[in-house]
Amino acid sequence: MKGLVISGGKGSRLRPFTYTGAKQMVPVANKPILFYVVEHLVQAGINDITIVVSPETGDQIRRETGDGARFGAHISYIDQLQPGGIAQAVGIAREAMGGAPFVTFLGDNFLTHGIVSYVNAFAASGDDACIMLKKVPDARQFGVARFEGERLVQVVEKPKDPPSDLAVIGIYMFTPRVFEAIASIKPSARGELEITDTIQWLLDHGDNVRAEVVEGEWIDTGRHDDLLSANRIVLETLPGDISGGEVDELSKLHGRVVLQPGCKVINSVISGPAIIGERTVIENAYIGPFTSIDRDCHIVESEISGSVVLEKTTIKHLGHRIEHSLIGRDVELAGDDRKPRGYQLILGDFSRVRVP
Ligand code: DAU
Repeated sequence: MKGLVISGGKGSRLRPFTYTGAKQMVPVANKPILFYVVEHLVQAGINDITIVVSPETGDQIRRETGDGARFGAHISYIDQLQPGGIAQAVGIAREAMGGAPFVTFLGDNFLTHGIVSYVNAFAASGDDACIMLKKVPDARQFGVARFEGERLVQVVEKPKDPPSDLAVIGIYMFTPRVFEAIASIKPSARGELEITDTIQWLLDHGDNVRAEVVEGEWIDTGRHDDLLSANRIVLETLPGDISGGEVDELSKLHGRVVLQPGCKVINSVISGPAIIGERTVIENAYIGPFTSIDRDCHIVESEISGSVVLEKTTIKHLGHRIEHSLIGRDVELAGDDRKPRGYQLILGDFSRVRVP
């Protein structure tokens, strides 16, 4: 089977991060979400992978993900010039799929337990397609499945009144038959070729569509809180490894801590689970549980917990602890006690700040 990762789109819900980068490249435990997706495919024996990207963020994804060698895969890229919908993105990959069955994985979907057993079951089944489901508390923001008895009869996109609590997650398995469906459906009210309409077309034309409820956690990382949850989940399972970093004798590390190569911990306390990125310096600081600090950051005389900090950010001399926060790349955050004691802020559009 082949792999098709859909990683275009605008990422408007993750602003301001997505002004300067692809949402699929926002890190969870210091690793881009997209890399987890590629790893899941490779783990399932799929190493011929195509990634659909948008003109705005395609270069970043190409540059950071590369040709796939680091994952033991071969990765090629296709540009989707306009965000015409997930089904449209699948449609433009017809030639790249070369008549083979394939797994489509949305590049912002985060899964803890992988897809190995589902891919094997689909490959052995002879079915035309497979969708994956997860029980959610509020299904209105997703595609939703409706069953009659055991039989899947309908998938409906973001219904106001969901017919079940089973969300259709962003992982689908198809045979080339799907391209007939995509060629036949019409754009939805939001002007997109919907993947749910594609699946409904297959159901309506008597194709066999399997439905599997996935094990483990699934997160559609569209929003800030979802990213912090995904970060928490990964850190919970990450084995500690401090071999990459330098820790002075005044510092204390508690619980599972990962120190990536070249980082330094000076007179500081880190309470795991936490990960500190390459070349980052933590000085006279406290890093609390469920925190990921990415590479080339400098944290001085500050306290951070339950947060994600992206690369090249400096946080110095803050009088209050930072909690449950998502801080972007190249941010400078500094406390000082000069008079007058006002806040001096240079914040991008859609920034959110709460100060005590
Ligand atoms: O996450 C699961 C949900 O994903 C499903 O339950 C829905 O049925 C499905 O339509 C989709 O809904 P979203 O509204 O969350 O899709 P979103 O617009 O966020 O796009 C998902 C990914 O696909 C994202 O990585 C961007 C990419 N994309 C999206 C569009 C519309 C493209 O590459 N091209 C596109 O044209």
